[in-house]
Amino acid sequence: MHIDVVTIFPDFFRSPLQTSILARAQQAGLVTIQIHDLRTFTEDKHRVVDDYPYGGGPGMVMKAQPFLAATETLRADSADGTPVIFFTPQGRPLTQQRVCEFSEYQHLILLCGHYEGVDERARQAVVTEEVSIGDYVLTGGEPAALVLIDALVRLVPGVLGNESSTESESFAKGLLEHPHYTRPAELDGMRVPEVLLSGHHEQIRRWRRKHSLRRTLTRRPELLRTAELTEEDHKLLAEIKQQPQKEPQEPTQASGDI
Ligand code: ADE
Repeated sequence: MHIDVVTIFPDFFRSPLQTSILARAQQAGLVTIQIHDLRTFTEDKHRVVDDYPYGGGPGMVMKAQPFLAATETLRADSADGTPVIFFTPQGRPLTQQRVCEFSEYQHLILLCGHYEGVDERARQAVVTEEVSIGDYVLTGGEPAALVLIDALVRLVPGVLGNESSTESESFAKGLLEHPHYTRPAELDGMRVPEVLLSGHHEQIRRWRRKHSLRRTLTRRPELLRTAELTEEDHKLLAEIKQQPQKEPQEPTQASGDI
């Protein structure tokens, strides 16, 4: 997989791309990530990337020309259909499903915007997909691009040590993860659920599934509408609804105090 990122802040990406799994994936040659300074695609002496908005108003608008030139250059040797992704809160919300779809491409071009927005003509001419990472406003597209890169890279075969871990993780199947524990078995009076110490694989599997369902029901009930649920899951959900209880170490609700 090759990812091109176009930004006015190339430094933003330096440390995250040189850390942990993203660094190892690149060193192993499993993915190449190139960061391009948008200013190198400008045509004027002062390398200006923004200008005042037509119609007036506060803030600046990013010029279309550098984005058009960047995309033309980066698409030159690429297969038709390469996604050109622009990050904006107005975009389609990013989901694991969408990340999986993007991961099928050999090449992706990510465009990061700033200021009040980008000249609409750039969006119309070259952007194939607008992506939002949530209903909040960031200072620019860079953190969102990093989120997508991270989520994509871990899906590239060979990047995670245990190949099955992305397959089996419950979010991939539309549920939240069950709670996890490691040693010691008791910590300040808090015990790890006995079943996890029992070595009984079938009971452990069932406990994990039940707690994955419980957590999803409690925190993100809307996910249950689209999750792939088995007959066993429906039985477990019925059990859960009959025995409402706090999840282990469920974070306490904020009381409204600030
Ligand atoms: N740029 C600014 N805010 C954003 C968001 N929430 N998602 C994607 N890009 C953005």
